Amino acid sequence: MAILGIDIGGSGIKGAPVDVTNGTLVEERFRVETPQPSDVTSVVAAVAQVAAHFDATERIGVTFPGVVLHGVTRTAANVDKSWLGAPARDLFSQAVGVPVTVLNDADAAGVAEMTFGAGRGRKGVTIMLTLGTGIGSAVFIDDRLVPNTEFGHLKIKGEDAEERASAHAREVDKLGWAKWAKHVEEYLREMENLFNPDLFIIGGGISKKSEKFLPLIDIRTPTVPAVLLNEAGIVGAALAATGAEPAGEA
Ligand code: BGC
Repeated sequence: MAILGIDIGGSGIKGAPVDVTNGTLVEERFRVETPQPSDVTSVVAAVAQVAAHFDATERIGVTFPGVVLHGVTRTAANVDKSWLGAPARDLFSQAVGVPVTVLNDADAAGVAEMTFGAGRGRKGVTIMLTLGTGIGSAVFIDDRLVPNTEFGHLKIKGEDAEERASAHAREVDKLGWAKWAKHVEEYLREMENLFNPDLFIIGGGISKKSEKFLPLIDIRTPTVPAVLLNEAGIVGAALAATGAEPAGEA
């Protein structure tokens, strides 16, 4: 069965129908630029534009780069503040004409990785961290998600971790790979001391270049790159919309 998954990111809003039995995209992705400012009205219209590009599916899953509780967006670190308290699930559903499931972007990526990617079949505590515009986190016990964790905002040396160790921080602070890897290492050390997970999965677009920084990171927890790369958010959104995973909707 195909379900449309749509991933709202800092620079682009991407969607594709996903075969939820195997996690593959059944059509090529369609992308529009994330509106700037990324206010509620503009982003809802952009999501509707992505949805309209494809044949209708019974339901749609949409990721959001912030906390989503019962379909309402509760934080907006890297998007317009009009999202604070916005009834996202209802707004998207009205705009696309079918029921929509909304969940946090890192939770979606994590669900996809645990189902079809680097975390498949893993037991114990797995923490997925997406290093992108911000840092997103998804925590699993076996394949069960603890939704809406916000470990990108853990304080490291007085700053939000995402201000030091996101892919965006590497670019704006013009950090070389070695220097940035140290920032990621210091963050992962803090995370492992607090949570003692069995596995870290590192996602976000930068995980494509994991050979440039993961070998430089010396921590005790096994750490692997995500395998679904750019598609993880779309796949996880579609999976969440099947209702199999009540992430962020419970
Ligand atoms: C947000 C998270 C989000 C992450 C990645 C953070 O700033 O607070 O909710 O998952 O960015 O987009």
